[in-house]
Amino acid sequence: MSRLPAIGSRHWFAAPFRVCLSARPWIVATVPRVAKRRDVRRFGPGPFVTGFKRDPAEWGDGFPFDLPAMLAIEQLRLDRPVTLLAGENGSGKSTILKALAEAIGFHVEGGELERSGELPAVPRKVLGEALDPLLTRSKPRNGYYLRAESFFNVAQFIDSGTTYAPDLSLYGDVPLHQQSHGESFLALAANRFGGVGLYLLDEPEAALSVTGALALLAVIARAARAGGQFVIATHSPILLACPEARIYELDDDGISEPPYDELDAVRLTRNFLQSPDRHLRAALGGADDADHERQ
Ligand SMILES: Nc1ncnc2c1ncn2[C@@H]1O[C@H](COP(=O)(O)OP(=O)(O)OP(=O)(O)O)[C@@H](O)[C@H]1O
Ligand SMILES: [Mg+2]
Repeated sequence: MSRLPAIGSRHWFAAPFRVCLSARPWIVATVPRVAKRRDVRRFGPGPFVTGFKRDPAEWGDGFPFDLPAMLAIEQLRLDRPVTLLAGENGSGKSTILKALAEAIGFHVEGGELERSGELPAVPRKVLGEALDPLLTRSKPRNGYYLRAESFFNVAQFIDSGTTYAPDLSLYGDVPLHQQSHGESFLALAANRFGGVGLYLLDEPEAALSVTGALALLAVIARAARAGGQFVIATHSPILLACPEARIYELDDDGISEPPYDELDAVRLTRNFLQSPDRHLRAALGGADDADHERQ
């Protein structure tokens, strides 16, 4: 017989049933862990989610509520097949992508949308109840949330061959741990990104050469034409050149929509390539001064 873990144990929330203590303490209800809402949308082409509605009454203090990009989140229109989030380190791209992933029903660690042996992904409000995803009438058949820092764990799970692990044939048959970081990610993209799927990718360029980034761009453009939706956080001028994508840049002032040539990632890379020596002198000059001071 299955037993509930002791209250306070870290397994408590993983229990098959959760005891809800209502605001009126004399009422104790037992409800299934299954989300009460079902995703009644029909499978169909994207876009599947077009943005967020913010509830000021539920808005909190501190991280992540105080990030300028988070405060401007209603400006994001995710109505194109590809939306790109650019911006400096720390501008809030991953935070927004994670909120979107959780709102769609992805596991926060990343991975496939529908995980075998688990409950179907059901969209929901996130950050307490502060952000409500704006959904369209169609839902994706599949999807993937790539977090660079957890790709290794996801690849290990795919390779594990355990009961709930997906069939390796879905990933091109070669175990991912027998491939390099970039090769395994391209195998995942080439084999899993397609059709009516929702793909949230956080810096997918991390493992890729220039040729690899172009190969990924081709996969994304093909899948987007076939009804997929992509939201991608990236610093890569190559991925930022994705045809027909809407590009947002996040910064201390919030969210803006500059043209490709005016994005920091493009402008600064172009300037660097035009005169690497000058930029290196400027960057290393600071380091040399610091060395002098230490001596
Ligand atoms: N768990 C956390 N608690 C407090 N602050 C956090 C937390 N996670 C991130 N931050 C802060 O929120 C800001 C945005 O972080 P985020 O990871 O979203 O940036 P990013 O745009 O993805 O940056 P990068 O390009 O480096 O990946 C950063 O200043 C970061 O320090
Ligand atoms: Mg990030």
